[in-house]
Amino acid sequence: MTETTYLSLRDRAVFVTGGGSGIGAAIVQAFAEQGARVAFVDVAEEASRALADRLVDAGHAKPWWRVCDVRDIGALQSAVADASAELGDFAALVNNVASDDRHTLESVTPAYYDDRMAINERPAFFAIQSVVPGMKRLGFGSVINLGSTGWQGKGAGYPCYAIAKSSVNGLTRGLAKTLGQDRIRINTVSPGWVMTERQITLWLDDEGEREIARNQCLPDKLKPHDIARMVLFLAADDGAMCTAQEFKVDAGWV
Ligand SMILES: NC(=O)c1ccc[n+]([C@@H]2O[C@H](COP(=O)([O-])OP(=O)(O)OC[C@H]3O[C@@H](n4cnc5c(N)ncnc54)[C@H](O)[C@@H]3O)[C@@H](O)[C@H]2O)c1
Repeated sequence: MTETTYLSLRDRAVFVTGGGSGIGAAIVQAFAEQGARVAFVDVAEEASRALADRLVDAGHAKPWWRVCDVRDIGALQSAVADASAELGDFAALVNNVASDDRHTLESVTPAYYDDRMAINERPAFFAIQSVVPGMKRLGFGSVINLGSTGWQGKGAGYPCYAIAKSSVNGLTRGLAKTLGQDRIRINTVSPGWVMTERQITLWLDDEGEREIARNQCLPDKLKPHDIARMVLFLAADDGAMCTAQEFKVDAGWV
């Protein structure tokens, strides 16, 4: 639960990609706690259903959600349209979906490369394209793209993910002027190493613990909730004059 109540987020419709687990789930939960009307898509059906049930059990409105593989742009566009028909025009879009599967330089085929971009790069652009007409009708909007500090700190073992994630800043910078004419803001939120279940299970080992201690300025581990807090600020009117920027939430790593 965030300590701040953002009055402007109450009843606002927001759309989150990859909202079923990890940081996305924390973002969905944080919006629900603010009284926003949340929609999310994810491939993980069980986790998504469990999240929706948890929110309802906690007394929040049932989120709109759908199993949707964002590699299928048509399915993503339909999900935005159907969710918007139910919840109204989206005032905020959070492009969160990603997959940081490991790979070597030698192992990558053109098909694998395209697949990484289809998850980590392409959906954000087309999700923006889908929500912007509604934001124009509202007369405002906030797009938040999840970037990463991983490539900025020369993180290894996922070059295709690094390429895609570095493009997030370009997406933000490349659209800010155009969207700004309609009072639509667009920003990047770049997390450091955040302790989701997936990160703890797959990648956090003794060397990882040492890396965190060596690189972060703050000693505590980043939680999904820490990222959600920055996302809320940028989605709310409190972030009114912030656009075209990258906001790092990395405990001072890079
Ligand atoms: N966790 C970290 O340490 C960290 C660090 C830097 C940046 N980030 C960024 O933050 C965002 C969230 O990270 P995370 O760690 O929660 O990611 P994650 O991999 O744990 O979760 C992403 C969500 O997307 C879903 N998903 C994966 N492929 C999908 C597809 N094809 N279609 C629809 N849904 C799909 C997953 O089921 C999951 O719910 C990402 O953009 C990531 O790049 C995370």
